[in-house]
Parts: sequence; structure tokens; C-alpha cells
Amino acid sequence: MSGRKFKFKNRFSFYLLAIGSACGLGNLWRFPYIVGENGGGAFLLLYVFLALTIGLSLLVSELMIGRFTGTSILAVTRQLTNQTKKKYYLLGWLSLLLSAVTLAYYSVISGWVLHYITQFVTSFFQADAIFYLKNISVAVLLQNGWLQFMLASVHLLVAVVIVVKGFGEGVEKRIASLLPMFGLLVVFLLMGSLSLDSSKEVLRFLFYPDFSKLNWSSLGHATGHVFFTLSLGFGTMVTLGSYFKVEDHLPTIGLRVTLVDTLISILAVLLIFPIAFSSSKQIATDPSLVFDVLPAFLISIKGGLIFGLMFFLFLWLAALNASVGLLETITANITEKRPDMNRTLAAVLSVGVILLMTVFPAFSGAIFKNIKILGRSVIVFFDSTLINVMLPLAVLGMVFIFFKIINENDHKKLFISNELPTSVAMHSHWIFFLKWVVPVVTLSGLLMLFVS
Ligand code: PHE
Repeated sequence: MSGRKFKFKNRFSFYLLAIGSACGLGNLWRFPYIVGENGGGAFLLLYVFLALTIGLSLLVSELMIGRFTGTSILAVTRQLTNQTKKKYYLLGWLSLLLSAVTLAYYSVISGWVLHYITQFVTSFFQADAIFYLKNISVAVLLQNGWLQFMLASVHLLVAVVIVVKGFGEGVEKRIASLLPMFGLLVVFLLMGSLSLDSSKEVLRFLFYPDFSKLNWSSLGHATGHVFFTLSLGFGTMVTLGSYFKVEDHLPTIGLRVTLVDTLISILAVLLIFPIAFSSSKQIATDPSLVFDVLPAFLISIKGGLIFGLMFFLFLWLAALNASVGLLETITANITEKRPDMNRTLAAVLSVGVILLMTVFPAFSGAIFKNIKILGRSVIVFFDSTLINVMLPLAVLGMVFIFFKIINENDHKKLFISNELPTSVAMHSHWIFFLKWVVPVVTLSGLLMLFVS
């Protein structure tokens, strides 16, 4: 199959982009509340185990699909359709649709981050900054649909400019290279949060797993989040894999990306919970957790305003990078399908459609306030349907495609490295996981969501 014109010049750029796509709001915003919702330690353990087993296996397989075919998921499934005369392209469209819906939803939450940035900046000009910041909350923001829509539009506008300017060139790499600084900031804040009195209780909550706290739906929540945070099922990792030229070992890359992503999620939980525990004995388990808890802590510490501004700024950059990954996937898919369409037009049209989709999550707390679906607000329902139900289906589609297009010899060649003798044994474990463990665990997770 055809290759791409653009290839990564070095491995480091690839790492930056893969990690940049994986680490985002999923780690810092979504993970803490999912852990809270599912009772703490036991869920954390389950999650880490699943990330390092099924998450990693899937990540390697998606990167390999891209590397092997040199194209994006839609082109891969179209080619498969041509060969077999079966409608496999529908799987490609499912991934693409998920990317678009996720980007719409992601942009609204990224807009919340932008709102917090503006509030921190405004607070510098207030007579009483602390008093001013005490009044910001997600609840207020949720009631303002237009504001959320506008902020999401600004976010998407920046993303589209970056994508049009060219993937992997300049801006994105520069943003990604700022992320280690974000890591430092998080570690610094973490020290403050772990010195709170509540930290002992939190460490018990997080590291003494109480398995009775797990419920039937926990497995589905854990698998869904693993897929989301590692950007699996969207075709993003396929597109990234297709840009990859250097003869490097995909499993090693997959392992590093998974480890960094998991570590960041654990740090996020360690940062948020001591603060949440000390501010109230009730642990918040909804999407407002990070947004409500962190500012309250920041305004109570010295230099907190600056730290707060920096934290939300970095968080936004991380969200932006992940969004660019999504938009790039969509654009690459469209330009491969319609080679006559230029990239700019493809990206702009996609953003137009996505912007229309943001109306639902943006107005979910305002116009759709009274609408409850299965007892949940529109945004929470949207989140869980997307991530816990649709995503697992797309992921299973990917596994299916993987086995359809890459035969044993080829995946062996790409997996086994002479320099790594253990890769021979790992290869058979990996295939076993992909073929059996991933489908069984994913389907069980889905099933349990429905029985609970
Ligand atoms: N993995 C990102 C996160 O955790 C979300 C994302 C999904 C980004 C799919 C790109 C593609 O925030």
C-alpha cells in the first residue's frame, strides 16, 4: 500500500505526538472523578492492570495497522471492502464519527479550562482576587450555554489553525515539548496537596483496595477509560503509526506511551484527592471535581494565583494537543478519501460540522437542564454512552481489522526484534491477548454496564 509523503524525521517527535495525544483531559479531568465514582483503590488497581495489558496490546496493534498500511483507518477499511466485497468501511466510519463526536465534547470541556484561565487572569485586576475566584464554579458555567459554545469555538479555531499549518511541524511539537514542564508543576502542587492532613486517609482510599467497593459496572468504566485515555478506537493511533518511518520497535513505543499516560493519571489522582478530602468529607464524583476542588486549594496557598493560572494554561495546552490529534485524524481520513480536496478545506469543513455538534454538550446544563436520560444529565449521559459503549465497539472493530489485514508473518516481523530476545515470547502473549482477552474483557465490561 502507498506510503505517506510526510514522515517523522526522528523518533522523539513521534513520542511527543503520541504522548501528546494520549495525555489530556482524560488523565487530569476525567480519571479522578471516575476513580471517585468507582470507590477508589480497587478501581485504580483494576484500571492500571487493564491499561498495561489490554490497553498496551491494542495500542501496539493500532500503531501497527498504520505502520503496515501507511494510511488512515477509513482507507484501510475501504481497501478491505474492495477486496472482500463486505461492508468493512462502516467500521472506519464508526471510528471517524467517534472522533468527531468526541472532539465536540472535548472542546466544550477545553472551553471550561479556557474560562478558568480568563478568570485567573481577571482576578489579578480585582481588589480582592480570592473573593473573586471563590465565586467561580462549574455549576455557574454550566448554566451559560452560549458562553460554553463560544469558548469551545475558540478552542476549535486554534486547533484548526494548527492542523492547517501542518501536522508535526512546529507548533504542535513545541506545545508537546512544554508538557514536561507541566509534569513538574503537577509534582510541585502534589507536594503541597500530599502535605495536607487528609493525605493519610487518601492514601488509604487509593492504595488499600477495598474490592467490595467495585460494582458491576466498574469493569466497563475501567475499559472505557483505558481506551479513551490511550486514544484507542478513534483511528488516531493508526494515523500516527502511518506517519512513522524510523525502523523502531512498536511494542517498545507502545509500552512507553502507556507507562507515561498511566503515571500521569495516577499523579492526577494523588493531586486531587487530598484536596477534595480536606475541603469536604464527601468526595465529589462528577465532572466538576477538578474544576471545583483545585481552584479552592490554589487560592489558599501562597502564590496560588500564579500556580492556578499556570496549571490551567498547561491543562489547556494538553487538551489542545489531544484535540489537534483528533482533528488531524479526521482531516487525514477525509483527504485520503477525497484526494482532490485540499487539507485546509477538509479541516475547515470538519470543524464546521463539529461546531454544530458542540451545541448539545454546550447547552446541556442550560436549555437541556431538565432533560434527564436514565437519571443522568445530558453531558454525563453523553460521556458514558460515548466512552463506555461506542468506544468499546470501535475498539473491537479495530482488532477485527488488524487480524484481517496483517497476517502472522507480517505482525511477527514487525513485533519481533533481534535485539530483544524476549520479544519472541511476548509476541505470542500479545496475539493471545488481542485475540481472546481483549474481546472477552471488553464484551464483559459492556454487558455488565447493562445488567447493573
Ligand atoms: N487520550 C486523550 C485524553 O486522554 C483523548 C483523545 C482521544 C485524544 C482520542 C485523541 C484521540 O484526554
